Amino acid sequence: MSLLNFILTPVTREQEDKMLYREFCKQFPEYRSTLHLDALRQKEYPLLQKNQHTYLDFTGANLFPRNLLQQHLQLLNSGIFGNPHSTNPASLHATQLVDDARKYVLQYFHAEDDYYCIFTANASGALKIVGECYPFNEESFLLLSLDNHNSVNGIREFAAQKKCAFQYTPLHSETLYLDKEALQNNLAAHPGKKNKLFAFPAQSNVSGIKHPLSYITMAQEKGWHVLLDAAAFVPTDVLDLRDVKPEFVTMSFYKIFGYPTGVGCLLMRKDILTHLQKPWYAGGTITLSAANYRGHFLKDNEERFEDGTVNYLNIPAIKMGLQFIEKIGVEMIKTRVTCLAQWLISKLSQLRHPNGNTLLKIFGAEAITHRGGTLVMNFYNSSGTVIPFWKIEQAANEQNISIRTGCFCNPGLDETNNRVYPGDLEYYFNSREKGDYFEMIEVTKKIRGSVRISLGMVSNFADVYRFYAFAKSFVIS
Ligand SMILES: Cc1ncc(COP(=O)(O)O)c(C=O)c1O
Repeated sequence: MSLLNFILTPVTREQEDKMLYREFCKQFPEYRSTLHLDALRQKEYPLLQKNQHTYLDFTGANLFPRNLLQQHLQLLNSGIFGNPHSTNPASLHATQLVDDARKYVLQYFHAEDDYYCIFTANASGALKIVGECYPFNEESFLLLSLDNHNSVNGIREFAAQKKCAFQYTPLHSETLYLDKEALQNNLAAHPGKKNKLFAFPAQSNVSGIKHPLSYITMAQEKGWHVLLDAAAFVPTDVLDLRDVKPEFVTMSFYKIFGYPTGVGCLLMRKDILTHLQKPWYAGGTITLSAANYRGHFLKDNEERFEDGTVNYLNIPAIKMGLQFIEKIGVEMIKTRVTCLAQWLISKLSQLRHPNGNTLLKIFGAEAITHRGGTLVMNFYNSSGTVIPFWKIEQAANEQNISIRTGCFCNPGLDETNNRVYPGDLEYYFNSREKGDYFEMIEVTKKIRGSVRISLGMVSNFADVYRFYAFAKSFVIS
């Protein structure tokens, strides 16, 4: 081909894609170290390719590798499993596998010596144990982060019922970092209180912002107990409980490796166990109880908090899932997600309507060192009006792109992003018996909700590129 012909030949879409990918690899050379995840994706997650599905909801739920399912099925088919905690062989078999999984979880987080692993149904179940059992009273205090999942926010109801005051630490409205100065002031503000609990997420489930783990020690040095909600953090980052020692850590395993659902855990520091007040007892949690007399003795270990029969058929798969992640390495997953997210942020932020108005606003700081692979944004038309999130979701659904929209169970973050103030909320909640976001939008005339995409271990360049092209299609030409 002559040089002139070459110049005049239009660049095909495929060539353009390749050029962009090359440009991406040049910009993020560390991405190359993660390339074997592409082979893993083909082998273990074949349906993504087969169904031409772009999955961008990893913070909602991870996807499971085929092999994990097969391994688990093989285990279930290979033995007789009975209800744990008996001496019959079927029971012992199940008990052994649950104990193995428990040990493995502790080992994975380097928590063998100092923590109990309490199996729960999910992260919310773990958070509820803390809410129910923490010794809240008039002399205690609950400090929350405005960036918190509702399953953490809900703990304030346990506190309030026991006349314990609570307070939120605000976020910087632009970066969505916790306001460090306000946090320091809040932590210093209750020297006389006895049981003080500070609850915050290691990573926001909405903005992807990572709140510094150094806040754990900072709070503990001022006499606080710390509840670290790690549900959105641990799927793509390393949590080493030798470095930080929050009293409580909560998570759901389906968010780390996709399968099984129905199992989460509370990692509880051993030295806090006797500090907690369990409001009831159930099967499995006691050494002895009586019916003709109001007497019971609670167990002295993690089982004190595992009400009834644990999910003994699924729990053994937790060890397999963690082994799967260990083989890949969380650092590797983090590198991949970070490169893809950073590329996407930079490309999306450049999108403009022809009149120069921006197409979308990504909420929160862009510096990738403090954020994971979750981005939250609003789309705007050329006159600067927000395009409702449900329209974006609908358009994505039509293209087989799985994203999530709404408020993501994190009202504090949404209120911050959309400038919904306490006065708006007070009026709304006090003027009706029930309501929802859509009605609230009508009444307060404030925007609620946004669009979230979240990346995970087998996200690839094609996924983020597809979302970029999808977003670009909203540019009005
Ligand atoms: C940060 C965070 N905390 C808690 C939860 C609650 O998890 P689950 O619904 O599995 O109980 C979620 C779920 O998305 C989350 O992202």
